Amino acid sequence: MAVDYQPPECLSKPIEVPSKLLMGAGPSNAAENVLRAGSLPLLGHLHTEFVQIMDDVKQGIQYAFQTKNNLTLAISGTGHAGMEAALCNLIERNDVVLIGINGIWGERAADMANRQGADVRTLTKTAGENFKMGEIEAALVRHKPAIFFLAQGESSTGVVQPIEGVGALCSKYGCILLVDAVASLGGEPFYMDRWQVDVVYTGSQKVLGAPPGTAPISFGPRAVAKIAARKTPISSFYFDMNWLGNYWGCDSQPRKYHHTAPISSIYALREALALLANEGLENSWNRHRQCRDRLINGLAKLNLKPLASDPAARLTCITAIQVPDGVDWKSVTTHAMSMRVEIAGGLGSTAGRIWRVGLMGQNATDERVDRVLDVLAESIKSSTTPPVMGRL
Ligand code: GLV
Repeated sequence: MAVDYQPPECLSKPIEVPSKLLMGAGPSNAAENVLRAGSLPLLGHLHTEFVQIMDDVKQGIQYAFQTKNNLTLAISGTGHAGMEAALCNLIERNDVVLIGINGIWGERAADMANRQGADVRTLTKTAGENFKMGEIEAALVRHKPAIFFLAQGESSTGVVQPIEGVGALCSKYGCILLVDAVASLGGEPFYMDRWQVDVVYTGSQKVLGAPPGTAPISFGPRAVAKIAARKTPISSFYFDMNWLGNYWGCDSQPRKYHHTAPISSIYALREALALLANEGLENSWNRHRQCRDRLINGLAKLNLKPLASDPAARLTCITAIQVPDGVDWKSVTTHAMSMRVEIAGGLGSTAGRIWRVGLMGQNATDERVDRVLDVLAESIKSSTTPPVMGRL
């Protein structure tokens, strides 16, 4: 039988992938052993050896989140899948969900919560700022939410949100605290149990330095109880934590087929978590902070200013830099890319106003900070009119 359409010409050629230094908002460059793990032989998704690897991953995630929560696993999907999984398991129609919005991640969470039929309320801040404890408490009192969402690392503005103390407030006002740690886990201190965070998720491709496609997530006892008390089914089959928890060995039942796990991505995630465990969280947090400080010092020498004026609000993993007047941000990132170095532009409300430099995982080293500073300086020079050049 003849086919209707011929094989595409492009697929007759070998795949071509250039090597780039990924100093944007993620993915970051993965370590060699993480990439090698992704090319190990495939196993079946319920084979004993693979189940052992899933158990290793679960322990690695518990360590990274600093939790003993049993319902801890990796969602098969990116950080967005982690966000969607958290929200669709927690929300029942008309639940009041309070979302802290100081960048794109709160906006996305509000969109997803709306789609779940939640009564969405927002607490907003200007890009470059974070929420103060008094503002959070006042909003909890005013809105009486069932769920409160905060992003610890707001990658679109380079802002860190202090989480310590928020869990206790949420517990006092009877609401579930959900934290997005996609752009912060491994680079900023995070203590899920100590800080009474009820649900947290992250992505594999930032500080963890694994390929994008898996999203570690953990649910604490109050979140598990909320899911168990649901009167309506979880809207998503794929993200249903009852199924996923069983597949990841988090209940007492034999593991059942739910979906076919992304086997190679789970291998890579295991190796990325092993790197973090071997380095130790405290060392990783310090390394990221020191590199961020080196970057900020270097930026000051170039007369460039971080978006967050309060040094305490600056995220270690991603620094947002104000684009000076007279500079075309896009020409700068294009020039940097011609040197095989990625520097990101803004996202959402910060688009066109900032550049973003990520120092995450393997890319948080003095040498890479110096390289990105050199590339940024050279790219600005090559893209600007003489008055700005003179200042560099
Ligand atoms: C993605 O996470 C981004 O911040 O660009």
